[in-house]
Amino acid sequence: MRVVAGKYKGKRWDVPHTFKARPTTDFAKEGLFNILANRYIDFGSQPVALDLFGGTGSISLEMLSRGCEPVFTVEKDFRHMQYLRRVQTDLGDKNWRLVQGDVEKFLKGHTQQFDLIFADPPYWMRTEGVLHRVEGTEFHGCDDSWDKFASLEDYESFTLQWLTECRRLLKPSGSIWVIGSMQCIYTIGAAMQKLGYWFINDIIWHKTNPTPNFMGTRLNNSHETLIWAVKDKGAKFTFHYKTAKAMNSESPGRQMGSVWRFPVCSGSERLKDSEGRKLHTTQKPLAMLERIIAISSNIGDVVLDPFAGTMTTGAAAKKLGRKYIMIERGEDYCRYGRARLEGVELEDSEFARADFDIKPPRVSMIEMIEAGYFTVGEKFFLKDGHECAELQPDGKLLYNGEIIDIHTCAAKAKNLRAKRVNGFDFWHVMRNNELVSIRIIRENYRSSLKS
Ligand SMILES: C[S@@+](CC[C@H](N)C(=O)[O-])C[C@H]1O[C@@H](n2cnc3c(N)ncnc32)[C@H](O)[C@@H]1O
Repeated sequence: MRVVAGKYKGKRWDVPHTFKARPTTDFAKEGLFNILANRYIDFGSQPVALDLFGGTGSISLEMLSRGCEPVFTVEKDFRHMQYLRRVQTDLGDKNWRLVQGDVEKFLKGHTQQFDLIFADPPYWMRTEGVLHRVEGTEFHGCDDSWDKFASLEDYESFTLQWLTECRRLLKPSGSIWVIGSMQCIYTIGAAMQKLGYWFINDIIWHKTNPTPNFMGTRLNNSHETLIWAVKDKGAKFTFHYKTAKAMNSESPGRQMGSVWRFPVCSGSERLKDSEGRKLHTTQKPLAMLERIIAISSNIGDVVLDPFAGTMTTGAAAKKLGRKYIMIERGEDYCRYGRARLEGVELEDSEFARADFDIKPPRVSMIEMIEAGYFTVGEKFFLKDGHECAELQPDGKLLYNGEIIDIHTCAAKAKNLRAKRVNGFDFWHVMRNNELVSIRIIRENYRSSLKS
């Protein structure tokens, strides 16, 4: 096993014949890391790395060599871990943290903090017996072994445990989103409040194609609830308000509300196993995860999903240019999920970058006079063409014998009750015999700064 590039380039270790895992080939490592370095990761910025199934450690070594700091390597097999420890001692790099155990325990012992956590925990559905559609065929709801708990106390203690770890791992400015159905969301919400999380919103995911209530014995259950919370009251969390408005498919262009309409995964979005059956009973819509990640995190942020299932969260995170750590104990889900993630490409977009929320640079009147966009002594008009004021060298306006800033002057000229309004909403200047809003002149000046 050989390190391909970076500060440990060329270093070699022999892997024992008894080893159950094989090191990734140099060729594959080179390809993988070239793609990562060219498209996703700035290794120079010392990113934190997590190698969840460490094996021979060949990927971890490559990460360390290229500057990741620290690198966590999680490996269950005792003999593999012994080997990794020998290589670590030989290398003497303090940034390599070896963790023996499964990922659940790993979460407990983990210290790196996350910008965003999305959790879709077991629902504890308590489904009993087989359900039948009206025409008699069997319907397979969530009756999986991972969804079984012995009692309410058991589910409560599981919930408190993972939420405690997630709160510890959430950055002070980070957000957590938890989704659940009526069977679990009240237990989860109560636990979150008990632990000190502060709720931002609860969102109804209105399923546009819900499973019918086959027997007609109660209302059709057509929604799930998402809780969006932060670590503490007063936390300064990321929220791209204008980007959310732009993404608002329910009421285009308006403030995004707390009822979201998405269909349950079906057709080509639904992952299938090798026999064509649905792989996972509770796969979440990719569009919903994209919305969550786009509005409450930034490019380059680290997203954690402790119950990753089919890796929907990872797929949305990767598409939007976020880093991600997915935890899942189902081996099949991991295998299919990993293949799914490999097929996802970064899609640079105004939503990914939250362009709608980027504040334009502040520019002053003096600056615009100096740049020739306004002339000292020129007249400022209201929209109706009423000539009111004259521009001064300091960017203020001469109005009724007093020199005042454009905002206070606009309030006075309009005879408003407010002392100060946004002057860019009111003032116009004459250009080619036409009145032009000074907002447009400012836009032109800002555009000139970009070029
Ligand atoms: C509701 S599903 C998540 C579905 C996922 N959001 C998706 O879109 O595919 C919950 C997942 O948590 C996993 N799981 C349950 N208990 C776990 C545990 N203690 N540690 C890790 N994963 C667990 C299950 O195997 C299951 O895939």
